[in-house]
Amino acid sequence: MQPAISQPVDGPLTRSAIFVTLTLAEGDDALASLRGLLGDLPSLVKAVGFRSSEAGLTCVVGIGANLWSRMAPGAVPQGLHPFREIAGIHHAPATAGDLLFHIRAARSDFCFELVSRIMRRLAAVTSVEDETQGFKYFDNRDLLGFVDGTENPLGRDLTEAVMIGDEDPVFAGGSYVITQKYIHDMAQWEAMPVEQQERVIGRQKLSDVELADGEKASYAHNVLTNIEDESGRQLEILRDNMPFGSPAKGEFGTFFIGYAREPGRMETMLRNMFIGKPPGNYDRILDVSAAVTGCLFFVPSADMLDVIARGGKLVLPEAAPEPEPDRSLGLGSLKQGN
Ligand code: HEM
Repeated sequence: MQPAISQPVDGPLTRSAIFVTLTLAEGDDALASLRGLLGDLPSLVKAVGFRSSEAGLTCVVGIGANLWSRMAPGAVPQGLHPFREIAGIHHAPATAGDLLFHIRAARSDFCFELVSRIMRRLAAVTSVEDETQGFKYFDNRDLLGFVDGTENPLGRDLTEAVMIGDEDPVFAGGSYVITQKYIHDMAQWEAMPVEQQERVIGRQKLSDVELADGEKASYAHNVLTNIEDESGRQLEILRDNMPFGSPAKGEFGTFFIGYAREPGRMETMLRNMFIGKPPGNYDRILDVSAAVTGCLFFVPSADMLDVIARGGKLVLPEAAPEPEPDRSLGLGSLKQGN
């Protein structure tokens, strides 16, 4: 069996990105329009992207739990459920969204063009929950002024962190993605001395060097989000956060986007941040950053997306298949049925 081709989840941080979150209308006509667009998406990305290979245009599609049950009834990825709100010391709301388009490129015009073409096809059958246009800020800094993305896994570690493997063989090659839009209170952040900001993040601001363990506060962001499994192995995720905003409107934000092979590790990080670990020892980023959206999506492999775009059913295996030699990319027993 051929290994599954994944969507381009593991792309590098780019100069530009657009995140579009949509809700699909009820009814079969809306579903048919969406299937049509999803089937044409690879050629649409090629048509827009081929005009400059340096632009490196990519698009990842995520599908929320409600829409997934309409598109592929009966075959549910193990970790898929609606985003779970957290009411801790700070609040992480769950907001609407059936579909995520995560579009990345070195040039904003390529992102803009692709979103325009997608929306031309979907405008009549979707409501826009959010569109965020992100930009690279100097050396990959967030608007709080810290370099963001340094500890992202690379190479084999990256595949291990983000790609579903044998644990859910039908959905191997897929991934999960959580998105949250944060709005910063810049006046409050800038009033904080840089040494205190560094204690909040757990790294030096200018050099991006990590603080020594003995210097780190127990509430530092990189302490609360550094989590391990029972055997002491670090549970990593891929983050592709982008700054966004409108200085004229006084809006300064970070669009958080995290990919992982199962959503539980991201949910643990969120609980550590919003409730605290132990409870009360919460992430001080949240004193100056309000989460205003929260969504969880499944990211099917490109092959699976093609099957469901053509209306094929995902046929569950009667018996578990033999594992593929390449754990990270095995397609499991995905078949097309009627
Ligand atoms: C306002 C929102 C956020 C901002 C501004 C932010 C910023 C940062 C910065 C500056 C770093 C240090 C450099 C790096 O390794 O990238 C970092 C690390 C990290 N962040 Fe965030 N982050 C935000 C939200 C989140 C959320 C919601 C999660 C998880 C659900 C998360 C997970 C992580 C992880 C796993 C690391 C690496 C920790 C390590 O050193 O092992 N972040 N973030």
